[in-house]
Parts: sequence; structure tokens; C-alpha cells
Amino acid sequence: MLKLPPLSLYVHIPWCVQKCPYCDFNSHAQKGDIPEQDYIHHLLKDLQADLQRFKDSIQQRKLHSIFIGGGTPSLFSAESIAYLLKEIKTQIDFEDNIEITLEANPGTVEAERFKGYVSAGITRISMGIQSFNDDKLQRLGRIHNAAEAKSAVNLAKVSGLKSFNLDLMHDLPNQTLEEALDDLRQAIELSPPHLSWYQLTIEPNTMFAYRPPKLPDDDELWDIFEQGHQLLTVAGYQQYETSAYAKADFQCKHNLNYWRFGDYLAIGCGAHGKLTFPNGEITRFSKTKHPKGYLRGEYLYEEKNVPEIDRPFEFFMNRFRLLEAVPKQEFEDYTGLSQSAVKNQIDFAIQQNYIVENADSWQITEHGKLFLNELLELFLTES
Ligand SMILES: C[S@@+](CC[C@H](N)C(=O)[O-])C[C@H]1O[C@@H](n2cnc3c(N)ncnc32)[C@H](O)[C@@H]1O
Ligand code: SF4
Repeated sequence: MLKLPPLSLYVHIPWCVQKCPYCDFNSHAQKGDIPEQDYIHHLLKDLQADLQRFKDSIQQRKLHSIFIGGGTPSLFSAESIAYLLKEIKTQIDFEDNIEITLEANPGTVEAERFKGYVSAGITRISMGIQSFNDDKLQRLGRIHNAAEAKSAVNLAKVSGLKSFNLDLMHDLPNQTLEEALDDLRQAIELSPPHLSWYQLTIEPNTMFAYRPPKLPDDDELWDIFEQGHQLLTVAGYQQYETSAYAKADFQCKHNLNYWRFGDYLAIGCGAHGKLTFPNGEITRFSKTKHPKGYLRGEYLYEEKNVPEIDRPFEFFMNRFRLLEAVPKQEFEDYTGLSQSAVKNQIDFAIQQNYIVENADSWQITEHGKLFLNELLELFLTES
């Protein structure tokens, strides 16, 4: 019997001022005015259709978190976000202490909207800072500079938000160890409750893939990782996922639910969702990627059942990225499988020192973190 995990909602806004050369997210450079009202109208219809289609999964559940991501959601006015949240709430209830995150570009115009977003119900803003080095920001095709980023952070601090996050990237073109650490030092000085520290990856079909920049080599990258991690730890940030650092009690509830194999509704262009049904089914679904089709009312793109044979890999894929212990009971509750279904793989993983176990949980080891792919491959089956 499957137990229903917490339920989140992801909302995708697919426009940006311009496309960054490293980015493969579903985002389009804005041409002319964004059809803001029309898009919100479709988001709400999309949600209504999902709540009906998936009612056996939703049941009496309330929303645990909402994440409005993109793209650049801060291109939308505070009034639009207020309307969107108000209307979502008429369709599905919120838990009392719901976390509602909005991704924002640290440009001046967006930062001036922060107080309005808070009045609209936003509790957390995630700012795409990337670096505090103006040359690097230019190389990354960003439309803001370091001074604007800092003033945006200062506005976030006095806007009444419960929390905010800074996105930083390292392993940037021609970046030295000192430059990478300097970015972290400047971020730490601003004292964000949460910091996401991503390694720049070169994704296919991006400008950087066509014209690859020179990136730090493996030795330099290792030093950046080690010394950066040390800097963050000493400053009171606890790493809880490969790229996620937070001060105590400021972990991102939305991402945690996703990584813990929780459920999430998903509305907007290209959004992906996952839902559990009391009858033992788990479904994954995605929405039409391009705004043109989506704005014609074509929402659902694909829906796939997750067969039992795929569930161990799907469960552990994100769980072992988290540094916390994995409760054995959650494996049974959320996959509907008994622990015996993975006994051989678990025994082998323990023997290889990838994980350790106690009566109630499994925990990835330092050694296991270095061999995460090998660990996860143990749970891959051909279906
Ligand atoms: C979906 S983006 C949206 C944030 C917002 N649009 C912005 O860029 O300011 C979320 C974050 O993913 C990270 N990101 C995007 N592309 C990346 C890449 N190729 N490698 C590593 N991190 C990346 C960036 O730090 C970015 O802020
Ligand atoms: S990194 Fe952010 S701003 Fe740049 S294209 Fe991607 S989603 Fe848009």
C-alpha cells in the first residue's frame, strides 16, 4: 500500500530578457510584450484540468510548497503573481506554513518588485547572481552587474521575505581558484540564508557547446570544490545536497520534497510532475514545451506510468544526492516495494563501502559520494 507523500506545485514561466549562452532550461528570449495575463489564465486552466484528472491522487492533500521557476518569473508583475497565487488557492488549499519561492533576476526593476511579491504571498526569492565579477558576468551573457546584484540582495533583506537564496556558479570560463573563492566570500558577506553553488556544465545545444570556453582543469576544479566547501562550512552553511548549502532550518522545502521522492503537480510550458496514487500507481507527466502550443490550450504532453521495476532507481537517484540518512520505511511507503526487493543491491553497496546501514536507515558514505554513479547503477534495471 503506497503512502501519499507531501504534495508540491511547480509553475514554469518560460521567458527571459535574453538567452544566456550556457543555459538549456526551457526559456525563450522575450520578443515584444510577454502575454502575461493570457499565460496566467492558461496556467490556472492547466491546474484545474490536472486537479480533475489526478483527483484520486490529490485527495485531501494541501500544498506543501510552490516553486515559480523559469525562465525569469520576476518579469511578471507583483499584481500578476498575487492574482496567480490567489486563484491557485481557490483550487487547492495551502498548508499553514507553505513555502512559496519565486526565481528572480537581480536586475534593478525586478528588485523593486520584491515587496510586492511578499504582499502577493511569496515567502522566498531565489536570485540568479552567478558571480560578483563583472567580467565573468559579461562572459556569461548576464544582464546585471555585481553592484546591481548586491543592491538587489539588500532589497531582498528588507522586503519581509522569510528566506532567500543566491545562485552562484563556479568553474566559469578562465576562472582562477582565487576568483571562485572571492565570489563565495562576497556572497557570504551578504549573509543569505541559502546558497546554491553549481558547477557550470556545458549543455548540448547551448552557445557554449558550439563555442566551448576554456574552463578550469580537473585539479583546479578539485581545489575550488574543496576550498569553497571549507569556506562555506566555516561560515555556518551546511551542505545538504551536492550543490545546496543552507544555514540551520533554511533548507529549501520544495527541493527537499522533490529529492525525497515527494509528489509535485506541474503547470506551465515544459513543466514535469510526479504523482502517487493510493491504488499503487505512480505517474510522471510533462507539459507542452513551447509557449505557442501551450497558449492554444494544449497542456498535457506526455504521461507515463512508473512500473515497480523502475522505482528503486527513481527513489534512490535523488535520495542519495541528499546527504541525510534515507529512512527505510520511506522506501517502502513511497515505492510500494518491500526492502527485500533491493536487498542484493544494498548488500553489495555496503560491501563496497558506498553506504552504511542501521536498523532504520541507509546513509551514503564519503566514499559513496565519490562513486555516486556506480552506486545508482546498482538499482538500474532493464525494463
Ligand atoms: C533555471 S535558472 C533560473 C534563474 C534565473 N533565470 C537566472 O538565471 O537568474 C536556475 C539556476 O540554474 C543555474 N544554471 C543554469 N544553467 C546552468 C549550467 N549550464 N550549469 C550550471 N548551473 C546552471 C544558474 O545558477 C541559474 O541561476
Ligand atoms: S540562466 Fe536564467 S536568465 Fe539565463 S537564459 Fe537561463 S533561465 Fe534565462
